[in-house]
Amino acid sequence: MMRSDVDLQHWLSAGVAAVEDWQGSFSPFAGHPSLRVSDAQLASAFEAFTERLGDNYPFFHPFYAGQMLKPPHPAAVVGYLTAMLINPNNHALDGGPATARMEKEVVAQLAGMFGLGTHLGHLTTSGTIANLEALYIARELHPGSGVAYSEEAHYTHGRMCGVLGIEGTPVAADSAGRLDPAALEDLLATGRIGTVVATTGTTGLGAIDPVPEVLAVARRHGVRVHVDAAYGGFFTLLAGGAGRAGLDEAPWRAIAGCDSVVVDPHKHGLQPYGCGAVLFRDPEVGRFYRHDSPYTYFTSDELHLGEISLECSRAGAAAAALWLTFQLLPPTPDGLGQVLAACRRAALDWSELIEDSGRLALFQPPELDIVCYFPMAGPSGRTGALSLSAIDDASGRMLAAGMADRAEPVFLSTLQVPASGFARRHPGIAADRDGARVLRSVLMKPEAENYVPELHARIERLVAG
Ligand SMILES: Cc1ncc(COP(=O)(O)O)c(C=O)c1O
Repeated sequence: MMRSDVDLQHWLSAGVAAVEDWQGSFSPFAGHPSLRVSDAQLASAFEAFTERLGDNYPFFHPFYAGQMLKPPHPAAVVGYLTAMLINPNNHALDGGPATARMEKEVVAQLAGMFGLGTHLGHLTTSGTIANLEALYIARELHPGSGVAYSEEAHYTHGRMCGVLGIEGTPVAADSAGRLDPAALEDLLATGRIGTVVATTGTTGLGAIDPVPEVLAVARRHGVRVHVDAAYGGFFTLLAGGAGRAGLDEAPWRAIAGCDSVVVDPHKHGLQPYGCGAVLFRDPEVGRFYRHDSPYTYFTSDELHLGEISLECSRAGAAAAALWLTFQLLPPTPDGLGQVLAACRRAALDWSELIEDSGRLALFQPPELDIVCYFPMAGPSGRTGALSLSAIDDASGRMLAAGMADRAEPVFLSTLQVPASGFARRHPGIAADRDGARVLRSVLMKPEAENYVPELHARIERLVAG
């Protein structure tokens, strides 16, 4: 059950002690009675609080194989909570010099991971905000032009285009869920597009857009390329790697030639929520962030992070957590790469079992660590003639039954797939509805590797009902 050897209770106490020591170096002062609460009051509120927290899914457990969710690494927890006791604000060096410098260091490590030499970047509170920043810069550089992204791209690209007042155009994906460069070529020939978003690791299927081809088409038309690697970015550590977990390096190496990239440490970087990142290849784009702020930026002429980001206040604790984590598990093939490799192997092992199964079928082979599959269930819950309605009903039933099973629970998620998506991959299935839910498991905990056979067995039993 133990997720790591770290004694969290010890290190959390050590964090409190370190901050209290530091506070003790200033003169003592009296606390204000308005803030006072007794231990007894806290005890009763805390009891109610922890009871309410029990209403959660066990994201930490290998039998939680649903959405993109897992607890942070203990090192991130220790880093976050310790820094949070100080509560620095990384907007400016005036708000938190130590954590602002940590942020610059981790951003340089992320840039190095993608092979970006020169760069300008910062952490953000999420992937959505990081992508918004990239699209904001895109709009400033190509005013009046639109943004193209795959029809499989994250929904927030369309939403953020709306926020920015830009026209967003979805581009067809191929039968593996990757942006189709031929369809992109046709769209760019219209001259309406200023920026293309390529996704390396789509949220639904984990598909990797063909970045080199996208880049070539875009450059032919003088168009900018942004890479949304919010979920998939850390898999670049497996690019060209030896062994089963190794990935084709072409799309990952091409990122260095793109204009911007987003990666979320709060997905595959072992961090708590509140940690995305955006990186630009050309530091000159910093000019689009220029603003006056009469009430900040007074302690240093050094670049303040608020001078190169759209957000103002941001948790310095998020940078602290990532910094401490990277000291132990750096974003290198031998560091964090080993975590990603285990997730990837888990997905490969499981897809082999599904391929040999008479009860489950792969929706498509996994490219990263997201496995999408469906029950080969007939109308009465038995294997039989397959139809979209039977698959949809059985997927929904299995999702609910897996969570409700007290003895052998399993927590899955579903992905809504249009009938056309099925027809391209599984033409024999009767399209009696306009789409169906398939089951989707993000195997983003390395522990998954050791639980694949049991996970598979539990899910196969769910098909039988
Ligand atoms: C590819 C991709 N882009 C963007 C996002 C949005 O990130 P966030 O949820 O951190 O805002 C996600 C979230 O899953 C994602 O997978």
